[in-house]
Amino acid sequence: MQAITTRRFLHTASALLVGVVLAACSKQEPPAPAAAAPAAPAPAPAAKVYVVGTDAAYAPFESQNEKGEIVGFDIDVVKAVAAKAGIEVKFVNTPWEGIFNTLNQGDRDLLVSAITITDERKQTMDFSTPYFDAQQLIAVKADSKIAKLADLKKLKVGVQNGTTGDEVVTKLQGKDSANIKRFESTPLALKELESGGVDAVVADNGVVVHYVANNSGSKFKTVSDSSFAAEQYGLAVKKGNTELLAKLDKGLADIKADGTYDKIYAQYFGAAPAAAAAAAPAPAAPAPAK
Ligand code: ARG
Repeated sequence: MQAITTRRFLHTASALLVGVVLAACSKQEPPAPAAAAPAAPAPAPAAKVYVVGTDAAYAPFESQNEKGEIVGFDIDVVKAVAAKAGIEVKFVNTPWEGIFNTLNQGDRDLLVSAITITDERKQTMDFSTPYFDAQQLIAVKADSKIAKLADLKKLKVGVQNGTTGDEVVTKLQGKDSANIKRFESTPLALKELESGGVDAVVADNGVVVHYVANNSGSKFKTVSDSSFAAEQYGLAVKKGNTELLAKLDKGLADIKADGTYDKIYAQYFGAAPAAAAAAAPAPAAPAPAK
């Protein structure tokens, strides 16, 4: 009884369906795109959440606040880029050591970590358009006589392992130098400077300036050197992930164009980059006569 009813129902239903399909086919207007799919529509895939790796011990670019949330300039930039690109992102604290491998392993979709775009890294990953200009800077004790990079040739220098700061000091002292102390994070290297274990630390200018400003007790000063190359940060994706890269580049272009980037920049560094560059010579100019 039940079977017959079901069969009859199916029969009627398919007859109706045929009728609907025929009616649709006989219509003169082109079918609406949605009607073109013959099979039942697949359930909408859950929006992909892109996993962003970051070594969150690098204030003001990325760090963890008291609540354990990952915050910073890089984080705000990626959030703004994601909003423009219409993608969802989730940040995961990822040690610098091995951070690049996480792309190939598929554990992270992209990396934001004040990563300098270098020719060597470009061999194994792809970078977005640059989003920040940086340079190495030397941190020393306030009473130090160190005045330039060359002064570090025979001294103990702390760096974060595998960074461009590491590269610069390795080039100066030679790769077998026992005087290069490589740390897992930049704050650890700076702590070592405070305790006298190293004579200097070489790291990205933004991080060194931030540390010196926020740890007045450490009594450091900074030393710049014109021989330090200009560096640029980029967002990194797995080599060949052109789809994600295009979204990121578009998002970056959008936030640069509409002033969002400048706002974030000013929030962390005091003035928008263009304004900062324009304002830079001002302090050196003679004060206008009254
Ligand atoms: N810009 C330097 C580099 O790419 C240091 C970056 C370190 N970043 C970090 N979040 N620890 O080598």
